[in-house]
Amino acid sequence: MPDQPVEENLVSVGNLSVSYGQARMSLGARQRFVAVDNVNFSVKKGSIVGLVGETGCGKSSIGRAILGLIPFSGKVSVAGKRIDAMSSEELKRHRLHMQMIFQDPLSSLNRRKSIKSLMRQSLQLQRIGSRKEQNDRISALIKEVGFDDSILTRYPHQFSGGQRQRISIARALTLHPSFIVCDEAVSALDVSVQAAIINLLLDLRKKHDLTYLFISHDLSVIELISDYIVVLYLGRIVEQGSKKAIMARQMHPYTQILFSTSPEPTTAQRTKKFQKIVSDIPQRNTVGEGCFFASRCPFVMDKCRKTYPKTFETADNQKVACWLYE
Ligand SMILES: Nc1ncnc2c1ncn2[C@@H]1O[C@H](COP(=O)(O)OP(=O)(O)OP(=O)(O)O)[C@@H](O)[C@H]1O
Ligand SMILES: [Mg+2]
Repeated sequence: MPDQPVEENLVSVGNLSVSYGQARMSLGARQRFVAVDNVNFSVKKGSIVGLVGETGCGKSSIGRAILGLIPFSGKVSVAGKRIDAMSSEELKRHRLHMQMIFQDPLSSLNRRKSIKSLMRQSLQLQRIGSRKEQNDRISALIKEVGFDDSILTRYPHQFSGGQRQRISIARALTLHPSFIVCDEAVSALDVSVQAAIINLLLDLRKKHDLTYLFISHDLSVIELISDYIVVLYLGRIVEQGSKKAIMARQMHPYTQILFSTSPEPTTAQRTKKFQKIVSDIPQRNTVGEGCFFASRCPFVMDKCRKTYPKTFETADNQKVACWLYE
């Protein structure tokens, strides 16, 4: 048989669930709050999977679980190794290949540390390279994100949000990661700055052989960057598929609503519109046996209120959890 190009999964997530002992919302004593419920998807090596859904649907919990930062149940493997089966020592070592970029990571760091010492931290902690090798790596990376060495003696608060995000991207790359979770990494930025950061991430993906899980509540950002889209609703995946398939046809009524509110020209307008539709998200612990979206769904049927939908798959591997497709 001729050799077929194998599309290797860098990350695979099987029946992933995350629950919290004490939910931020009011719950009875000792009740656990299920934030992520039996989630299955994978991320092909070199690809970008966009994880989208309204606030509180479990996006960050999924990102943190994959990096082994919070307890979870299910199977998670990254680069061929099972995160769920690792000792904390192994996990610590394995985590060097994985990084997370947040909304504004630099702003939470020590204000009195220069960019250079912030960038050196993980190299120093891991005792990687001589001082000169560390300096060379830092200055190569800072150039790749569009700066020159002169900024290394400055401090985080001397930069704009977009500039700080460039620096934190460079910082995330110091240990040669293969997988990066970007959690709302561009959400606080203006649209034009968002586009520039997204282009930078795309560019770096090629140069550094990176794979991303890109988390955002903003579908227009997800559309720009992703190859594959996973749509979450109250901790469960309602739809997933290639961007091409989902752009051509949104199957789940929830995905249809998300698409109908996007895009708006400015972040402020988008946030406003988004907040309007999210104002009536039911809480996870108040939905009944049926489909979690039943109370908001324009196409709701009797069955939807009684039984949670099975997942149906189309010929081009688009998967949707909705009885309309039975
Ligand atoms: N440490 C925690 N303790 C208790 N509940 C938590 C904790 N972290 C998250 N939750 C709850 O779990 C649910 C999922 O949270 P998560 O942060 O994963 O959602 P998200 O999709 O990232 O939301 P956002 O878009 O607002 O960032 C939410 O209801 C949240 O309140
Ligand atoms: Mg989040």
